[in-house]
Amino acid sequence: MCQPQTVTALYDDLAAQWWRPRGAFAMLHWLAEARARLIPVARRPGAVLVDLGCGGGLLAPHVSGKGYLHVGVDLSREGPRVAAEHGVKAVRGDVLNVPLRPGCADVVVAGEILEHVPDLPRAVAQACGLLRPGGLLVLDTLADTALSRFITVTLADRLPGVPHGVHDRDRLVDRAALVDACARHGVRLRLRGIRPSALDLVAWALGGRGGVRMLRVPTTAVLFQGSGTKEA
Ligand SMILES: C[S@@+](CC[C@H](N)C(=O)[O-])C[C@H]1O[C@@H](n2cnc3c(N)ncnc32)[C@H](O)[C@@H]1O
Repeated sequence: MCQPQTVTALYDDLAAQWWRPRGAFAMLHWLAEARARLIPVARRPGAVLVDLGCGGGLLAPHVSGKGYLHVGVDLSREGPRVAAEHGVKAVRGDVLNVPLRPGCADVVVAGEILEHVPDLPRAVAQACGLLRPGGLLVLDTLADTALSRFITVTLADRLPGVPHGVHDRDRLVDRAALVDACARHGVRLRLRGIRPSALDLVAWALGGRGGVRMLRVPTTAVLFQGSGTKEA
């Protein structure tokens, strides 16, 4: 099992990879683009988007024209530094104890972070607590199913070119527990499954595409997005 400091140490070791579109974090680039499509243009001047587990700030180019102050929180040493180089107001901090004022955010984003935390209810409470009434929660993560465990842990740890040991099968996310936890904090979360386009993936692997589109799929059993608005 990966302890939090072990996970973040892994990300620190790989920090040079954050912005390499063909590097170890290539898929995070594709996911950031798909995630940003769920984020509308800011509805008021001074709107704040809090990016939990922001890593190297890969979301930044996809939201930069939308009118938010992009604030990032990441527990690794290197993530906030790299994110800051890309325009994110990034701080080092734990998503289980976020060093920001409750109710400060118009949008809270949790991209590929919930599958790393040892306490899902607490992470959800923190995320929802940051939202203003009417604010939007956007997330993507990995489901706790046998198929997901096989793909994201067993298989991924044997594939070349992707980071090994980053996913702990005990931390994959129980979808019902996630939806329940959000509801307890006033956010009705809707889930949708996604996967990379197989055609794009082949073209990308052959060097013919710069990125890979994420497509909707009818199942949330592996990789899924969630979004929901906090009750006013
Ligand atoms: C898979 S990366 C996702 C990064 C970014 N959200 C993206 O999609 O490009 C997970 C990130 O979560 C961070 N992380 C892991 N546990 C954390 C915690 N408890 N608090 C804050 N950040 C954490 C890691 O340092 C890493 O940068």
